[in-house]
Amino acid sequence: MWYIKKKNHLLCIVRKNQTPLYIYDKQTLINEINKYIKTFLGYNVKFYYAFKANSNTNICKVIKQHRFGADVVSGGELDLALKLGFKNIVFSGVGKSRQELEKAIINKIDFINIESFEEFEEISKVSKRLKIKTNISVRVNPNVEAGGHNYIKTAKKYSKFGVDFNTAFEIYKKASCEKYLNIKAIHFHLGSQIFSEKPYKIALEKVILFLENLKKHKIEINTIDIGGGWGVKEGEESKNHIKLLNVIKPYIKEYNFILEPGRSIVSSCGILLTRVLYRKKVDDRYIVIVDAGMNNLIRPALYNAFHPIINFCERKGNKINIDIAGPICETSDFFIRDYKMVLPQQNDILVISSCGAYAFSMASNYNLRGFAGEIFI
Ligand code: LLP
Repeated sequence: MWYIKKKNHLLCIVRKNQTPLYIYDKQTLINEINKYIKTFLGYNVKFYYAFKANSNTNICKVIKQHRFGADVVSGGELDLALKLGFKNIVFSGVGKSRQELEKAIINKIDFINIESFEEFEEISKVSKRLKIKTNISVRVNPNVEAGGHNYIKTAKKYSKFGVDFNTAFEIYKKASCEKYLNIKAIHFHLGSQIFSEKPYKIALEKVILFLENLKKHKIEINTIDIGGGWGVKEGEESKNHIKLLNVIKPYIKEYNFILEPGRSIVSSCGILLTRVLYRKKVDDRYIVIVDAGMNNLIRPALYNAFHPIINFCERKGNKINIDIAGPICETSDFFIRDYKMVLPQQNDILVISSCGAYAFSMASNYNLRGFAGEIFI
């Protein structure tokens, strides 16, 4: 991994900065972006980067330079995408406020992904009032189980996201008669940390059937936004994008496709550097307290995610069972449990891997600890 090769440089940065500290590697980011570009070269596929994974401006700028659009889920993300000059923007999310919708409508983004009938009515009202023709898409819930942890599955029947096919039909039918609405696409997003192409295949088959039925009612949609969700194992780089290409290949002549990758673009380019504060022994195991906490990386506490950790100050000795925990006053504030490693010493610098996605973007100020710095190299 890049951070092993750049260890001396990183240790130099740590000497001049406070820990905890996020570091993002530009070259790794570019490699991940290029995997998408190369895999889908020659096919009618557009990419919209999911800002929620990491909205660091340096990262977003590099992604924009590679001609990706932006997939945003709040007024704040929309503001940033506009400020950075993203020309292609889609807006998803179950609870967009009137102000957020107005902003999207006034800025004439590529399309808004509608997630309920009432949201459709709101968009219709605002568009009429502003006399702006708004591009819309409906996010359908295909009732497919996919995603790593239960909390990151988004397309099961009772998930709060999207609408069922009957409601989608009603929305499209009504929208097709409205002067200020323009039907652009159909959307689904299945979940996150998906490693198999099968759920995409099942969902896409359902969507294609639905579109064929819509066609019979004189509504033609030729753009399908299949969301993001492609998984990356923590501690590794993304792979197997070809599986996603294989999902859409049978339909590529008839439809244009959109992908909204987040994690698979940014996960591997980021690390969180943290310093060992104290160690304590409990029977045969050690608890190592570091200066990063769940406010800097909540994924282990929230999803039981396993982010491999290495010690930059290599220590010789026997590997023992250790827990690595943060300083926050919560029992769930840990990074790893029962991990076999040589006991680190006080002040050692540990590297928490795969912190490019959903680390800083989910950070909080809990315990008034403030936000850690971010460095882009
Ligand atoms: N499009 C939509 C509509 C989404 O809701 C998401 C992620 C994405 C695209 C990007 O998915 P990705 O390629 O990053 O998997 N905080 C969780 C992940 C939540 C993902 C939410 N939606 C985690 O740390 O695992």
